[in-house]
Amino acid sequence: MKLKGKNILLGVTGGIAAYKAAILVRLLVKEGAQVKVVMTKLAKEFITPLTLATLSKNPILVDFFDPEDGRWNSHVDIGLWADLYVIAPATANSMGKMANAVADNLLITTYLSARCPVMLAPTMDLDMYQHPANLKNIETLKSYGNIIVEPDSGELASGLVGKGRMAEPEVITERIIEHFSSKKKLKSKKVLVTAGPTYEPIDPVRFIGNFSSGKMGYAIAEELANQGAEVVLISGPTHLKPCNSLITRIDIQTAQEMHDAAVKHFSTCDAAIMSAAVADFKPATIAKEKVKRGKDNMQIDLTPNKDIAAELGKLKKNKQVLVGFALETNDEIKNAQKKVQNKNLDFIVLNSLKEKGAGFGVDTNKICIIDRLGNTKNFELKSKKEVAVDIVNELITKIEE
Ligand code: CTP
Repeated sequence: MKLKGKNILLGVTGGIAAYKAAILVRLLVKEGAQVKVVMTKLAKEFITPLTLATLSKNPILVDFFDPEDGRWNSHVDIGLWADLYVIAPATANSMGKMANAVADNLLITTYLSARCPVMLAPTMDLDMYQHPANLKNIETLKSYGNIIVEPDSGELASGLVGKGRMAEPEVITERIIEHFSSKKKLKSKKVLVTAGPTYEPIDPVRFIGNFSSGKMGYAIAEELANQGAEVVLISGPTHLKPCNSLITRIDIQTAQEMHDAAVKHFSTCDAAIMSAAVADFKPATIAKEKVKRGKDNMQIDLTPNKDIAAELGKLKKNKQVLVGFALETNDEIKNAQKKVQNKNLDFIVLNSLKEKGAGFGVDTNKICIIDRLGNTKNFELKSKKEVAVDIVNELITKIEE
């Protein structure tokens, strides 16, 4: 009974995934929560109020007042009652209204007046989800501190395949339990994460970069935030967006900019995880104008970038934990162990390009964690999200030491 004594208000909007609201209510009640449900009129076309009232053991709220006796359904009272307002499914239409305070139904007026945290589980079809207007609304809602339970990828009601399917009720329930969990091990901790590639300009239109997607670093930032940490995510250019309001992203392009941001923030952090693929060299000079094509070979004179991890290693105070990554192609363990010492790291996460499914661009990774004493822990091939959990768990043990 992980939700005993918690008041959860469930908002159901009109999408095909509304049928899953029944399973969600059942799971929440099973965990001991008090559940009240507010629905939009359209949601009633997808699932009957009778089903949800029976499962939640509470009458369903749809209208501002009861047409029979004029009894007022106070959105303020419902909002104050709730410890958490979960809107699942959250359609593009309803999220658009929430982002812009279009208060034309009870579910939205309750959203606007609720003082408790709000969790949204978006659902919609592939192209609707990807539309910039919808993505902008989701960004706006995140900036209000709303928690977004990302939709899954898979077959959608339209038959199209892609992102847009509402997260499964079991996953939403887990997120709710996690939200209330006092066992968040990194509460009141602050962690710096570097992620993605750096771009080193050659001239106004060209740069030297690398294939890093930033997926590993972003997964680590999300997991740290799930554990309650405040995260400073210093990110090179990527298409990714963090989903947790505990994450503050600082966008940079060059290694020098990443260095400056990392040095500026490190002193206020309890730990730093250096997952960025920092370019080791940059052009010695940046051409002011676009370099013209010629017939002869062209040379670019490169000069080394600062080693950001090593710089933080020098600045590190007693209780701070510093974690690095190593991507090696040969003598993996030996090279990684050298980096632990040279950069004054507490441990290093080694991924070998020889391993299938590890490295740039892919969604999986296979890692080995090596500490200062040379102890090694090998992990299976896993999704980057699961790998992030392993790395954060290792960090927690080091912070607790
Ligand atoms: N790193 C860094 N700044 C750099 C280069 C690397 O902070 N200029 C960090 C990476 O984020 C990673 C660790 O140092 O956590 C090791 O990176 P890697 O590229 O494997 O090592 P290098 O020190 O660059 O050594 P080499 O490329 O010669 O293997």
